[in-house]
Amino acid sequence: MKREKILIIDFGGQYNQLVARRVRECNVYCEIYSYKTDLKKIREMEPKGIILTGGPNSCYEEGAASCDPALFEMGVPVLGLCYGAQLMMHTLGGHVCKAPVREYGKIEVAVDRSSKLFGNVSEKTVCWMSHNDYIETAAPGFQAIAHTPDCPVAATQCEERQLYAIQFHPEVLHTVEGTKMLSNFVYEICGCAGDWKMDAFVENSIRSIRERVGSKKVLCALSGGVDSSVAAVLMAKAVGDQLTCVFVDHGLLRKNEGDEVEEVFGPDGPYNLNFIRVNVQERFYERLRGVEEPEQKRKIIGEEFIRVFEEEAKKVGAVDFLVQGTIYPDVVESGLGGESAVIKSHHNVGGLPDCVDFQEILEPLRDLFKDEVRKAGLELGIPERLVYRQPFPGPGLGIRIVGEVTADKVRMVQDADAIYREEIAKAGLDKSIGQYFAALTNMRSVGVMGDERTYDYAVALRAVNTIDFMTAETAEIPFAVLAKVMNRVINEVKGINRVLYDLTSKPPGTIEFE
Ligand code: XMP
Repeated sequence: MKREKILIIDFGGQYNQLVARRVRECNVYCEIYSYKTDLKKIREMEPKGIILTGGPNSCYEEGAASCDPALFEMGVPVLGLCYGAQLMMHTLGGHVCKAPVREYGKIEVAVDRSSKLFGNVSEKTVCWMSHNDYIETAAPGFQAIAHTPDCPVAATQCEERQLYAIQFHPEVLHTVEGTKMLSNFVYEICGCAGDWKMDAFVENSIRSIRERVGSKKVLCALSGGVDSSVAAVLMAKAVGDQLTCVFVDHGLLRKNEGDEVEEVFGPDGPYNLNFIRVNVQERFYERLRGVEEPEQKRKIIGEEFIRVFEEEAKKVGAVDFLVQGTIYPDVVESGLGGESAVIKSHHNVGGLPDCVDFQEILEPLRDLFKDEVRKAGLELGIPERLVYRQPFPGPGLGIRIVGEVTADKVRMVQDADAIYREEIAKAGLDKSIGQYFAALTNMRSVGVMGDERTYDYAVALRAVNTIDFMTAETAEIPFAVLAKVMNRVINEVKGINRVLYDLTSKPPGTIEFE
């Protein structure tokens, strides 16, 4: 049976993954595709509905992102959001132009509750607006179903053709009843059944993995992070003893992490993973010697990782499948799904270098967002403390050490980070901060310790709150906690004489330092 699906057509807006997550929170599966996707391909996917996202362009400008007008004639419900709404109106004969008053932020919108889109929504509801252009007049056959003082057509519909357009962003949490609107679209308008649930996902995955793998051998890259742990346990449930998990300790993990991973997933732990730990710290430091450029470090770490696997695979014997913990945002961000630019290469996506001798790759979590991976993990019985671990990048401390990586710098950042995490936990802040860590800057400066002059490194503390990791705000940590961390780091970590707190949000910064 074909899985019911909503298609999200991506016009390059910053909230597009959020749209997908909200739809999935309604238990409806959806996928993101670029606006350049061929209409034939869209038809073949037989979507229950289509959502057109926001985007940075003006739809009336030459060369602006657009879609095939026949998309609106498919007989499939379409919901346009912001740019998507304007594009729908522009394409179907409405008038979109520069708004006399630009709306930005939380704005009260009056909605027509007789529209299916706004069923159960309050008559006046706070929505998130962010637009320079506006729909001056809706296309023929459309009626306005929401307005604000400055925006006569904040939403419009043509019920017979099942076409809906809204100027604001229901996917953003600031739109208080946004999820209700999206839920109305997928259930009341598209007629979805809502069959996307994690228990069913786990069950179906186990069945399809068994079918695909048969009696062949599987090798899994286990990093101890949430994604690979969930992937490994899922595989173990599906194929049992045919699975071997290799954990590469590349020397770029957090302090004591290698031992902790071994404790949980190793032979003395609760899972049957045929766990092999490979200690290749020195080999990675050697490969990274003298390398300063972040993308180059990522590439080297990624490639070396694969080489180690190859070697281990050979020892295990013939291996047919390699499991990777790729998740959906990796797919989208690597430019394979939607329209987002490739900002950083994530080394675990997009296949392996040519010379790798595994036959096939299995990516059992490729369709899932992070929160869904966590739910699947709990479903599989993985303990909460592992499932809710904070994210740790594949290239590890390699991208938390600005400039060249050396064993000594790894020690410094590991020790500082361990102190930081310990103090955050002691202050009871560990559950409320999204991601926090120490990073070693490449700056050395003069200080005094006792009677001696020092010329040592500065460590930066980072703490951010984020819903989707696409944007992030700096977390406010009480000064007393920061001061305690500073004191301890300077006293306990040789080689560091300055502690900085990073205030940068994302954008313009990123969460990691490289
Ligand atoms: P940035 O630094 O891009 O981070 O704001 C967003 C989230 O992604 C993680 N991250 C990575 N994860 N390989 C990974 O597996 C990478 O190269 C990488 N770079 C960033 C980062 O920890 C944060 O959670």
